[in-house]
Amino acid sequence: MKANQIRKLYLDYFESNNHNIVESSPIIIKDDPTLMFVNAGMNQFKNIFLGDLRAKDLRVANSQKCLRVSGKHNDLEEVGHDTYHHTMFEMLGSWSFGDYFKEEAIRLAWMFLTDICKLEKDRLYVTVFEGSNHDNLLKDNESFAIWKKYLPESRIINGNKKDNFWEMGDTGPCGPCSEIHYDNRKVDLRNEINALELINKDHPDVIEIWNLVFIQYNRFSDGRLESLPEQHVDTGMGLERLTMIIQGKESSYETDIFQPIISNLEKVSEISYGHNKEHDIALRVVADHIRAIVFCIADGQLPSNVKAGYVIRRILRKAVRYGYTFLDIKTPFLYNLVDIVIDQFKYHFKELEDQRGLVKDVIKDEEETFFKTLDQGIKRINEMISISKEEVSGEDAFELYDTFGFPVDLTELILRENDLSFDMDGFNRAMDKQKKRSKNQNKLDVGDWIILIDNENEDFAGYNIFEKEVLITRYREVNTKGKTQYQIVFNSTPFYPEGGGQVGDIGEICNTSEKISIKNTKKENNLIIHYANSFPKDAKSKFLAKINIENRMKCSRNHTATHLLQQSLISNLGAHIQQKGSLVCADYLRFDFTHFSKISEEDLRLIEMDVNNKLLSNIQLQEHLDLSMEDASQLGAIMLFGEKYADRVRMIQFGESKELCGGTHVNQTGEIGLFKILSESSIASGVRRIDAITGVEILRNLNSQVDIINDLKLLFKGNNIVKAAQEAVSDNKRLQKEITKLKKQSAISLKKNILKESISVKDVSLITKNLDMDSQDMRNFSFMFKDVDSLILVLSSVYNKKVYLSVFLSQDLIEKGYNANDIIKHVAKDINGSGGGQSFFAMAGGDNINGIEKAYNSIKSFIK
Ligand code: SER
Repeated sequence: MKANQIRKLYLDYFESNNHNIVESSPIIIKDDPTLMFVNAGMNQFKNIFLGDLRAKDLRVANSQKCLRVSGKHNDLEEVGHDTYHHTMFEMLGSWSFGDYFKEEAIRLAWMFLTDICKLEKDRLYVTVFEGSNHDNLLKDNESFAIWKKYLPESRIINGNKKDNFWEMGDTGPCGPCSEIHYDNRKVDLRNEINALELINKDHPDVIEIWNLVFIQYNRFSDGRLESLPEQHVDTGMGLERLTMIIQGKESSYETDIFQPIISNLEKVSEISYGHNKEHDIALRVVADHIRAIVFCIADGQLPSNVKAGYVIRRILRKAVRYGYTFLDIKTPFLYNLVDIVIDQFKYHFKELEDQRGLVKDVIKDEEETFFKTLDQGIKRINEMISISKEEVSGEDAFELYDTFGFPVDLTELILRENDLSFDMDGFNRAMDKQKKRSKNQNKLDVGDWIILIDNENEDFAGYNIFEKEVLITRYREVNTKGKTQYQIVFNSTPFYPEGGGQVGDIGEICNTSEKISIKNTKKENNLIIHYANSFPKDAKSKFLAKINIENRMKCSRNHTATHLLQQSLISNLGAHIQQKGSLVCADYLRFDFTHFSKISEEDLRLIEMDVNNKLLSNIQLQEHLDLSMEDASQLGAIMLFGEKYADRVRMIQFGESKELCGGTHVNQTGEIGLFKILSESSIASGVRRIDAITGVEILRNLNSQVDIINDLKLLFKGNNIVKAAQEAVSDNKRLQKEITKLKKQSAISLKKNILKESISVKDVSLITKNLDMDSQDMRNFSFMFKDVDSLILVLSSVYNKKVYLSVFLSQDLIEKGYNANDIIKHVAKDINGSGGGQSFFAMAGGDNINGIEKAYNSIKSFIK
């Protein structure tokens, strides 16, 4: 069976057991500050487990795209070095939300593996949670008793908290788990050592394939566990590992999931898999990483220098370097693997096909950029390696990062290959110093929610409700840089939370005795959180929550204008235009989209005019509040890639423009007033950005232009400023020429006069002269004395409150052993400064204006 069939086998099995098959959520997480990437199938159901959201279906299954590269679940280091870990992998998951529990979960898993997949029963082993004194939890005897029905007691073993108590992160839903392991060794080895001794010991052939988690608790940030209102099942099985077993392979990299990628790499590098450890690791790393990169970019995350984008860039650069160093591939190669990955997975993950062109462009561009510095960077790090004993300095590591684009983990990896490390503290200091980034890297200390009222809806009151009486249901403290801020949730709120590119509402809450400003509103895991710098004394009283209406109106204008802009871009440039990001705030709007080239000024004007015509037509808003996805799609609604939509969606329509959207909008387009594009630029390969403004912001912008024009009119004393400016520019050019000519003439006569002032000191003629010149002119003027023999010309000049000295020597003196550099170094202290130069000309600058005479005298005695 091919992997695609195995996935289907799994989904069909759970469907026939009354599970609803759902889609994988996008691999990028947008509204959870604790997690950047989906690291388990259960992420999208977190709120159901916590009791914050009711499950629509009590039994669900899917294949979830996961990435384990940071945080609690991080497999990045293992990938490639062993034969069964992956950064991106497909987790086959099944869930019961308060429906069946351990008995049925175990039965379903066992039957699938033994009855459907026909795995040999006596090669299966299971683990159960042994309990934990620390958390005051007993052994999971219940699972133990159930498993005994299916396999002998001797193959059921206890597991500790690390392996058998599953937690998504430091906080959140968790519970004891029971893992199913498979002994994938050849029969003779199986007879030699009992698999029981190898379970959870990082043995490449005795591996966990399925984890059945019994979600029962919520972990709080202080480490406390609290029982959840209901008990749930969360199971996850790696498709790659199951495929390996079913296809009878020794490594998941040998399955049809990775083989097409590896074959291509073998062809390009002329290196074949299975002959050399170093080559094999590199082939596995690249084959693994390309999948992660493709899936993340297709889900909307472009490589960048921050957060999730930087993780992708790091993975990509690591893959490039493995190809470069170990497979000897010296030109961009990753982008050529994109088609292979997409062709293989497009049947199940349909989003890949639509993003094919963009994914390829972006990867190619990233590779080209990195290849520009890679060669030099590798040379530089090799130099560092050759002179270092144990550790490379933080500054050196920073140079690799800053100049050659080496992510820290890449530097660390290359150094480790050479038994070296680097000074991380020194690196951080260099980073802080140069980038002054420390501000953004401040760690937030987020407290647990303090619940004031339980069982409230905590929902959004509606798009047309600008104020509302509210109660505080929960709040928490957030400490950053020694300051305490508060995050507050209401039973129902008129505040729009940041989302769909639109910034969150600002405003205030007040009662008769208190008024608290709301600085921002954001959504986190479905909770609408209001940000405040203070917290009311009487938190249990009623408050009137009022949004800042003017601010909201401005955002709404910009949001509707963004929709109209997208529509105009599509109709003027083509259907390939796809949104890649947007920012809608009160002052302006920003729209990022796929397009291959710069948009001409002419086209921009057309698009701008098109949008403005739609404003003048005063198109009425049609808000379709509750459409099914199918209906919306039939109506031609624009949807965003990588966005997780609910089954029922809201569609915003202004005439032709139809978009799925949760943002706020004007009632008719005339309210926007005017629309003006400020700039169009490139932000990544194949991705362009337009910044624009609307409404009174245009007036403000216009007025600042008018102010500039008025200032110029005053300056040029007339109305025809273009003509006046042209004249000024050509006058300036002419005068500049004139000045150069005059300077030359006066320099010649100055030279004549100065030569008369020379005095003899030993065998040289010495001239010391104070002139009113800048350092460049001192240099040029000195060089005019090249035709004079046996001369030491010492010039001084005072400007910008500093004193400058220069020393010029004739060629014959240099041959005699005189050196201008020596002389200037000798006298620089007289003007309280420093300097240097060459043997024939040197300069010094200092701040002791009264030291000039002394310097002249020092030179005299120096010559003597
Ligand atoms: N959440 C568990 C895991 O990721 C089972 O799905 O292993």
